[in-house]
Amino acid sequence: MKFFIKTYGCQMNVNDSEKMRYILESRGIHHCQSEADADIVIINSCAVREKAQDKIYSYIGRISSDKKIIVAGCVAQSEKDNILKRCSAVDFILGTHQYFKIHLAVDRIIKGDKRDVFAGFSKEWKELCPDMGSRESRVSGYVSIMEGCNNFCSYCIVPFTRGREKYRPFQNIMEEAEYLSNMGYKEIILLGQNVNSWEDKSEGFTFTDLLAALAEKTDVKWIRFITSYPGYFTDDMIKVMARFDKIARHIHFPAQSGSTRILKKMNRTYTRQDYLKIVNRFKRKIPGMKFSSDFIVGFPGETERDFELTMSLIKKVEYESLFSFLYSPRQFTKSFLDPDKTGIEVNKERLRRLQILQQEIQVKNNKTYIGKPVDVLITQRNPKKADEVIGRTESYRVVNFVSRSSVGEFKRVLITNVGPHSMRGMEVND
Ligand code: SAH
Ligand code: SF4
Ligand code: F3S
Repeated sequence: MKFFIKTYGCQMNVNDSEKMRYILESRGIHHCQSEADADIVIINSCAVREKAQDKIYSYIGRISSDKKIIVAGCVAQSEKDNILKRCSAVDFILGTHQYFKIHLAVDRIIKGDKRDVFAGFSKEWKELCPDMGSRESRVSGYVSIMEGCNNFCSYCIVPFTRGREKYRPFQNIMEEAEYLSNMGYKEIILLGQNVNSWEDKSEGFTFTDLLAALAEKTDVKWIRFITSYPGYFTDDMIKVMARFDKIARHIHFPAQSGSTRILKKMNRTYTRQDYLKIVNRFKRKIPGMKFSSDFIVGFPGETERDFELTMSLIKKVEYESLFSFLYSPRQFTKSFLDPDKTGIEVNKERLRRLQILQQEIQVKNNKTYIGKPVDVLITQRNPKKADEVIGRTESYRVVNFVSRSSVGEFKRVLITNVGPHSMRGMEVND
């Protein structure tokens, strides 16, 4: 029996896929890199926008009929009844809190049992540390520290697909981080829908205590974390980042909108001023601090004035990079039935303007690197140019350069040319 996992969505899905692979491989079931070679296709799905969900249905429809199909992840959780009704080819549905039963699903499929659904929510954290062989990267290791969300932003389906917040115990996180560090990983990326609400009540630790402990006890070069919710921000985060060089001076800090009126309607618990205050405090206390963000364009009721406030926030913060999305109404959410719609053409035009602005900012930012040496972690060889490698800077910028060095090495690279999305450079010795 061979299985193939097709992963959609965020890094947490990537990490859950690694865990499923680990479970199946440790039971002697073979992983393969292509769907064509597989007997079982596992789809780890994302439901965040309608398009993401449509992709799952169309992928299911394209899988050849001799394969067994398991749908896992967020669409499995939120659309289980629909999948059962619409997709007779699907053999098993595994919700977000049930991924660790993947081997049971496979056993039942092998036995020829009838299709079934495991989709209950569980309050407990499943302690599991995938080994190196089951991970996507030998350089950057994912460590999930919490799952779920209690915020219920009015557009967002995630609280319905991932359940309420639950936190992984401190000791268990440290064990996985130390394992990665001992295996030579260069970077640890902590994962969770709201990493900065993490706590371990029995130990009395908060997220910043966790960051400090990881910085002290591991040998990695960079520690990153996604995603931080601006509404839970405390000054401790600035302090801990200022104290440890190992914590990358870059934070993904989704604003969603620059208009307090829209933020309120989105049920985000901070204002434009709160957000800017935090960013400015970071910039003052930590020289070179960089930000990236997510924005939603065309949220119900967004006026030209609200949109201009988003544009001016982007100009003020000067993000290193950002993800921008057209609002997509999602079932179960508060704004799903909000009639206050702005026309799709207006929204598309706004999204275009936002993306042009961000491109200009990125070109301008990237130009400031020209002639300067930066530390780059090589993450892969360039599949198109044999003598080149691709790496990332501390602020997660992509850098291409000619090198004989291996994946996982850090190099000083002098930046020579820049575009909006990546930079080119030359390896130097100091
Ligand atoms: N927990 C993270 C976000 C997870 S979803 C946070 O709070 O920041 C990733 C991004 O998808 C969000 O930041 C948001 O910008 C976008 N998103 C979520 N729901 C959306 C929707 N209904 N329409 C468009 N974009 C959406
Ligand atoms: Fe969704 Fe908001 Fe929770 Fe992020 S904080 S996962 S956007 S509900
Ligand atoms: Fe998508 Fe679920 Fe992640 S909806 S963004 S895979 S939490």
